[in-house]
Amino acid sequence: MTREADLSSSREGLLKHGAATLSCDSLDNYRSSSELDLDELELLEGQTSPRPRGEWSPSKRKKDNGKENEHKRAQKAKRKRGWLRSKTCWVVSAILLGGLLVLMGGFKMFVYKKPQPMDGLSPPWYPSPKGGTYLQWQKSYLMAATLVSKMSLVEKVNVTTGTGWASDLCVGNTAGAFDAGFPPLCLQDGPLGIRFADHATAWPAGITVGATWNKDLMYKRGRGLGLEHRLKGVNVMLGPAMGPLGRMPGGGRNWEGFGSDPVLQGIAAAQTIRGIQDEGVIATAKHYIANEQEHFRQAGEWELPHAISSNIDDRTLHELYLWPFADSIRVGVGSVMCSYNMVNSSSACSNSKLLNGVLKDELGFQGFVQSDWLAQRSGVASALAGLDMTMPGDGLIWADGQSLWGPRLTEAVLNGSVPIERINDMALRTVAVWYQLGQDNQTLFPIPLEGNPRPNFSSWTNDKMGHLHESTDDDTMVVVNNFTDVQGDGKNFHGRLAQEIAAEGTVLVKNGDNILPLSPSGGPEHTRDRRRAKYNVGVFGEDAGPNPKGPNACADRSCNDFTLASGWGSGAVEFPFLTPPIEALESTFDLDQVQITQVLTNDLPDDWSAVHGTQDLCIVFITSDAGEGFASWNHITDRIDLYPQKGGDDLVKKVAASCANTIVIVHAVGAVILERWIDLPNVKAVVLANLPGEESGNALADVLFGRVDASGRLPYTVGKSLSDYGPGGKIMAKPNGVAPQQDFNEGLLIDYRHFDANSITPRYEFGFGLSYTTFTFSDLKLKTLKPKTPLPSPRPNATVLPPTFSTLIPDPETAVFPAGFRKLKNYIYPYLDNSTIKHEPYPYPPGYNTAQPLSPAGGGEGGNPSLYDEHVSVSVNVTNTGKRTGKQVVQVYVSFPSDVADVSTGRKIDFPVRALRGFEKAEINATETTTVEVNLTRKDLSYWSVGRQNWVMPDGEFTVAVGASSRDLPLQGSW
Ligand code: NOJ
Repeated sequence: MTREADLSSSREGLLKHGAATLSCDSLDNYRSSSELDLDELELLEGQTSPRPRGEWSPSKRKKDNGKENEHKRAQKAKRKRGWLRSKTCWVVSAILLGGLLVLMGGFKMFVYKKPQPMDGLSPPWYPSPKGGTYLQWQKSYLMAATLVSKMSLVEKVNVTTGTGWASDLCVGNTAGAFDAGFPPLCLQDGPLGIRFADHATAWPAGITVGATWNKDLMYKRGRGLGLEHRLKGVNVMLGPAMGPLGRMPGGGRNWEGFGSDPVLQGIAAAQTIRGIQDEGVIATAKHYIANEQEHFRQAGEWELPHAISSNIDDRTLHELYLWPFADSIRVGVGSVMCSYNMVNSSSACSNSKLLNGVLKDELGFQGFVQSDWLAQRSGVASALAGLDMTMPGDGLIWADGQSLWGPRLTEAVLNGSVPIERINDMALRTVAVWYQLGQDNQTLFPIPLEGNPRPNFSSWTNDKMGHLHESTDDDTMVVVNNFTDVQGDGKNFHGRLAQEIAAEGTVLVKNGDNILPLSPSGGPEHTRDRRRAKYNVGVFGEDAGPNPKGPNACADRSCNDFTLASGWGSGAVEFPFLTPPIEALESTFDLDQVQITQVLTNDLPDDWSAVHGTQDLCIVFITSDAGEGFASWNHITDRIDLYPQKGGDDLVKKVAASCANTIVIVHAVGAVILERWIDLPNVKAVVLANLPGEESGNALADVLFGRVDASGRLPYTVGKSLSDYGPGGKIMAKPNGVAPQQDFNEGLLIDYRHFDANSITPRYEFGFGLSYTTFTFSDLKLKTLKPKTPLPSPRPNATVLPPTFSTLIPDPETAVFPAGFRKLKNYIYPYLDNSTIKHEPYPYPPGYNTAQPLSPAGGGEGGNPSLYDEHVSVSVNVTNTGKRTGKQVVQVYVSFPSDVADVSTGRKIDFPVRALRGFEKAEINATETTTVEVNLTRKDLSYWSVGRQNWVMPDGEFTVAVGASSRDLPLQGSW
């Protein structure tokens, strides 16, 4: 194994392997990182023999049900879902292969439907820009520099390398630099609340938050998340998620983010981050970037040796997938997590163009880049490419204790492979973020002490007593769970806010005969059978009811059983409680006047009314679930189709066949195809309640009974079929090579942009949702705040210089295990066994010694500050023409001038028909009018010119359209 192989594999390109032979054995025996990877990826200098491949056996320690080892479950799921299965594998593949060998001239052609992509499709960008270049970070960087200058090399390495999966109490942990005065850090999921924790809020999912279109609620939820994480002792919250963006409506983790549009996603992410960080907790913008599907996201997990490569052109990268990350950096996010997948054939966590060039230079990111868990695929190469922290610290295999950094990073610095300036910058960035967020305040972030462990919960047991170092051989039991309740109380009980968000994130898409809102004494008068004393309401479907085994019956929520309030995976949390819809319906209907019949199953006989009685009103609950790739339910991770699951369509049809007033409630991770019943005359109302979190039932009742207006708006398009979303909208469920290649050929045209460009009528368009009142828009005014000019101001010169340190390589003796040191098995230490260091010239990547031109689009956090200058003010009057108070979302879409030729190439530039550029939600009393203002920035009015490598505001006439959805835009103006 040579270091050249390392560079070709992990720096900028794809592994150069010959025809990898996939056999039943190799497929079945794949561990979470593949043998192929292990053999072909580099070992750091001095490591020439294969490492022992340890795999942590969770059976060593009894796990709680809900906290079962992620890796173990991934294995189970993998065994369930493999595209080649062990039992039938040999027989089926022998037949298939035999035939194919004859027909296609060999196995290789079968595996490689596409030719092996060329090495190095992502250009090199070196060296890694240093942090500490902006005034707003200067103080933190100066303090950090003082602290880092006191650190020994091994302490610096400690700051950069996780201690190993389950080695400490959080899902990710660093060991700290005690002598210098820097504590260990706890990194914990995640986007919906504190994973693996007790007495913490299970917030509505990101997709529900996106559906509120309410900036204030987005911020408040972030604040609640931040407070809870801080009170549990978490330093770094692993969220919010803004990638996947939602290229594919079936993407398994779309629900963790906020919707399929970069502006909606960016605003929601930024508001969430502001909230989290206002509580002093470091937020993590994840997953950087283009991790759009779960299939093949990670080497090994999907029985392939390599992760999928998302192949994206530069303009699409900037205008779609990067946009929310830019917004996050602009509000000062402390950490960015690089993703599992490759981008343009280079691993996202060692892609120098994306980390050094785009993130740190162009977007001016001042925080630290952490890897997703085992997304680091190389050692020196990833450090050079801009990775600052590896998580959870293990190498290519879960809990193996064989870090690609740790001692190997120490060694690489000592032998000169990793420049000392790079390790200094890695540690400095992390410490600077810690200061920037005020985590040196020991009242807010107490230093962990014996008897007062931080965090005050364990990810690995629900018991009070447990191991501090679960995956190691340290059997000492201590108090690990203090059961600290962080949910707030009284007026500040976070459940209230969670309920408000879930209610505002509920989208009413159909309301025939104004059947909603309901009255507690029954439905509307016209639905009542007057021969009966009571109004009869039937509630159908298991989604209305609680799971008899409790809301946390499935680990990481990886099943779709009973009421659905969260997707699954690391983005899920332990529900402290989950109010099922039936409970809220029962407590809201006046039972003296209403008879509720519960049929909480999806298995309904056709003649159900003969069994359960005829109903005046029927409320039917259906679901569609998905989740993260390490687990699966019913062979689902990504959704390969968008239909309701568990027979939901049949259930609705059966109920509607015998019930003239049917209301359908959908709990789902994203868009669901409603076509099999949406036009049935008896289906009067449809409510898309997304994933509401712990207060599910109460929030739904708020909307159904009109205690709040129905004010959710769709954060995605509901098409009539999956094909409506275009070829790019389909999950790649079968790999097209050993390193599957997914070309983002649709460019900018995802979700509603695809529907608009191809004149496809969706069932319900992006941004759509009904209220219980009506609104009109009038008096659109466009005011020029700054004139049109093609380019932003020149990149401002750095006003602050990064701190500098001695570049002397320390004495290797200082990096050797101290005498008598007690090593825990599998725990990752920065120390070396001895001080012998081999010096060989390191083959730095091509382009390494060529300083890159700084991006003209850079010069500030989130990019050149001039990109955020406001050029147009858009104001509009909105009148509530109905009879009750309601909330309307004013949406502003921009259409670019036609016939734009690129400034540098002269080539015609195509644009989406329209793109969302801003929104505001306003509460308006009946008959009143409010003026709403949305300002458009230079960036909103520019495209990314690949030739110019800058944002360009084209000449010509822009159309600004304002209204209630992407297809309901009554007002238009020109600028
Ligand atoms: C993998 C997931 O992709 C990421 O989102 C999460 O934060 C880590 N695991 C840690 O659980």
